[in-house]
Amino acid sequence: MSEREWLPDLDSCLTGVNVWVSRLDQCRDESLLRQYASLLSASESERRRRFLFEGDRHTYLVSHALVRSVIGQIAGEEPSRLTFSEGRNGKPLLHHALSRLGRIEFNLSHTDGLAILCTATNRVVGVDVEHVHRPAPLEVAQRYFSSLEVEELMQLPPEDRPTRFWSLWTLKEAYIKATGHGLSAELSQFSFSLSRPGALDFRISMEGFAECSRWWFAQWAATPMHLATICLEQPEAGLPEVRFWEVVPLRSARDVVVNFLTCGGDSAPSLPTTTLKPAPFDPATPHPLLLGPPLPKIASRP
Ligand SMILES: CC(C)(COP(=O)(O)OP(=O)(O)OC[C@H]1O[C@@H](n2cnc3c(N)ncnc32)[C@H](O)[C@@H]1OP(=O)(O)O)[C@@H](O)C(=O)NCCC(=O)NCCS
Repeated sequence: MSEREWLPDLDSCLTGVNVWVSRLDQCRDESLLRQYASLLSASESERRRRFLFEGDRHTYLVSHALVRSVIGQIAGEEPSRLTFSEGRNGKPLLHHALSRLGRIEFNLSHTDGLAILCTATNRVVGVDVEHVHRPAPLEVAQRYFSSLEVEELMQLPPEDRPTRFWSLWTLKEAYIKATGHGLSAELSQFSFSLSRPGALDFRISMEGFAECSRWWFAQWAATPMHLATICLEQPEAGLPEVRFWEVVPLRSARDVVVNFLTCGGDSAPSLPTTTLKPAPFDPATPHPLLLGPPLPKIASRP
């Protein structure tokens, strides 16, 4: 398969929302890594070089090869020739972002072991992934979470709090990454309630943020160790189909089925969620991205 053909079903990538998940440990082939390095711009290569640890250099290389190789295909451009600019607060944007179907939007998140890219046409997107098999810094909830989020968190049995913490954290990050606010956001000024099993309510009390009903969220276990959330803008046309892919950049892309742990947005009754696949998380049928048994705490959500 040539570099040009590694990504199947290109037409659907131009229309819906696509989520591209790369396991960093599956991208170790030396010749592939050399190809990835050849895609980076001079400033990206320099940024990669400056990381102190090899693990961080690897994460950066694969993540940015993922961005360039996928978006290159969607935009019909050589991956190494793509140029990016920065929106307010540093959100990366594609410079010549118009495909034949509209404006190409994307967002990237990476953490220990995993990189996730979300792409869409004509709708703003944000993504966040966290490695959740580590102690949750619950003490920072008071500082970053809304009073409602802290209240709901503290009402849970202590053993359920870490999962809720990471769940809220990735929701909040996905949102500020979609809007592009980044670190400038007042994180306690918007709020997610997860008291309705499998659903979520989203409220904003801060001026300057777009209204709640514009946004839709979905959260899933990307691996037994990673919790991820996408945040999508809902244009007039409503929600698109969201497709998930397990990707080795420039080599393979496999369509996978994902069961959401929770999804929703503003509690407006007209949310057209049926075109998505918001199946409740079923621990008996882990989705193909799961290597082993799903996270017990997350799986125990009703
Ligand atoms: C971008 C930010 C919002 C998220 O960073 P993060 O979670 O550490 O990192 P992620 O892996 O999810 O995302 C990094 C990528 O987001 C993109 N990004 C950078 N700035 C961004 C912005 N303002 N908006 C959207 N995306 C942005 C870049 O592609 C970046 O990748 P790169 O650094 O390799 O170029 C950053 O501002 C940050 O440090 N946030 C932490 C804030 C915090 O304390 N949150 C508490 C949540 S409750």
